[in-house]
Amino acid sequence: MNPEGRVALVTGAGRGIGKAIAFELSARGYIVAVNFRASSKAAEGLVGEIASSGGRAMAFQADVSSPEDVAGLFPQIEERLGQVQILVNNAGITRDGLLMRMKDHDWDDVITTNLKSVFLTTRQAARNMAKSRWGRIVNISSVIGIVGNAGQANYAAAKAGVIGLTKSTAREFGSRGITANAVAPGFIETDMTSILDEKLKEQMLLQIPSGRVGTPEDVAGLVGFLVSEKASYINGQVIAVDGGMTMA
Ligand SMILES: NC(=O)c1ccc[n+]([C@@H]2O[C@H](COP(=O)([O-])OP(=O)(O)OC[C@H]3O[C@@H](n4cnc5c(N)ncnc54)[C@H](OP(=O)(O)O)[C@@H]3O)[C@@H](O)[C@H]2O)c1
Repeated sequence: MNPEGRVALVTGAGRGIGKAIAFELSARGYIVAVNFRASSKAAEGLVGEIASSGGRAMAFQADVSSPEDVAGLFPQIEERLGQVQILVNNAGITRDGLLMRMKDHDWDDVITTNLKSVFLTTRQAARNMAKSRWGRIVNISSVIGIVGNAGQANYAAAKAGVIGLTKSTAREFGSRGITANAVAPGFIETDMTSILDEKLKEQMLLQIPSGRVGTPEDVAGLVGFLVSEKASYINGQVIAVDGGMTMA
């Protein structure tokens, strides 16, 4: 089926991996709802870039950790672009710290932004997807959700939670033409990883068989495939994009 006309919502799409995903989906012919929380200039810039390359996109402000914002976001997209048939949950934050010293609000912020948001958007999107008997949900988890990491207990718990949520979504909605999969990026060069110290980056690089850090486009390519017609029998999977860093 020609993807033209299908509407894809990408959360946290103003920059980083979300931006590359929005661009990839637009290049594949989807109409893209570019969600941002604070980066309005970046989101509008992306919408402009997509338009000048012949695609169609629109920016929508919403904090996806807020039930009120998510409830308001979907009717806005529906009114201006159409029903969301593809949902990519990409928005995420880190608030790193050793467990013994971790503040309650750093735990709560990471769980709410990285995990509860995925529940909120999925609950909202799945209703219409189920009615039309077609839908694609891709949740951006992390290899940290699979292997854990000292100093990232909150982030690892949230990203592991995303995997459980993805598998439950796949089981609940699989018979209605909806697939739900998780993508687990490894070390990808974005604002999120630019704050890491150089020594740590060098150590991480040594653990990557492909011998380089990943790019947002490395992740976006897989997401583009997972939302396509050709991926209709891939459901409930967790696929790492990590240059071989965490292979079993
Ligand atoms: N970079 C990596 O190595 C790596 C590895 C594994 C997994 N990941 C995951 O990949 C995803 C994207 O990460 P990234 O590296 O691209 O990070 P990034 O460059 O820091 O970008 C994060 C994005 O999330 C958005 N966001 C944060 N909180 C939000 C909220 N409450 N509502 C809406 N949007 C929100 C930000 O929007 P605003 O700027 O508008 O706030 C921004 O667009 C995250 O889920 C991250 O955990 C990244």
